[in-house]
Amino acid sequence: MSLMLPPGETLVAATHNPGKARELAALLDGRFTVLTAAELNIPEPDETESTFVGNALLKARHAAQHAGRIALADDSGLSVTALDGAPGIFSARWAGPTKDFAVAMGKVAERLEEIGADDRHAWFTCALAVAWPDGPAVVVEGRVDGALVFPGRGTLGFGYDPIFVPEGGELTFGEMAPEAKDAISHRTRAFEKLKAALF
Ligand code: IMP
Repeated sequence: MSLMLPPGETLVAATHNPGKARELAALLDGRFTVLTAAELNIPEPDETESTFVGNALLKARHAAQHAGRIALADDSGLSVTALDGAPGIFSARWAGPTKDFAVAMGKVAERLEEIGADDRHAWFTCALAVAWPDGPAVVVEGRVDGALVFPGRGTLGFGYDPIFVPEGGELTFGEMAPEAKDAISHRTRAFEKLKAALF
């Protein structure tokens, strides 16, 4: 067995979100057929690890074992330095059951205000894991640093994009064209590392 991904291989994306599976397939330059865990009736595991890398690995291993195929998983989020890295792996959970990111961004602002922090440094992380059904796995992490702004600006992105200005820039991720964000994003950086490791 080798840790190479032959083109044309069918991979399982450890997600129940078809949009995310399409995005993963596109980021891998369309080299693979990508099925979702939902299509294969694989349940979503609880994300019980304490790091992005740990949760990406857990999800990839779970899908690989259930599907008997090579599986790919990601875990990502926003970490705020003054909040000791929160929301971090809880980024999605801060938006609550209705996935309202206005609420999540409000919580970030509130917590910073509560502790009277001036430091606005934050970063996005994306961990990507590929797991083989017989055990081996590769995991990489990409990161982009920046500063938070309140109130948020821009409607182009998703999640915490409106409050994040990448280092050296003036626009928030929510104001940047998708191509401009993709050129520097944590996700793109993680995929570059993954491709370097596997192809
Ligand atoms: P996951 O899909 O479970 O990994 O959750 C990722 C969480 O982090 C979601 O709540 C996203 O909104 C947030 N997040 C990850 N990447 C980005 C990004 O590029 N922009 C804004 N929010 C992001």
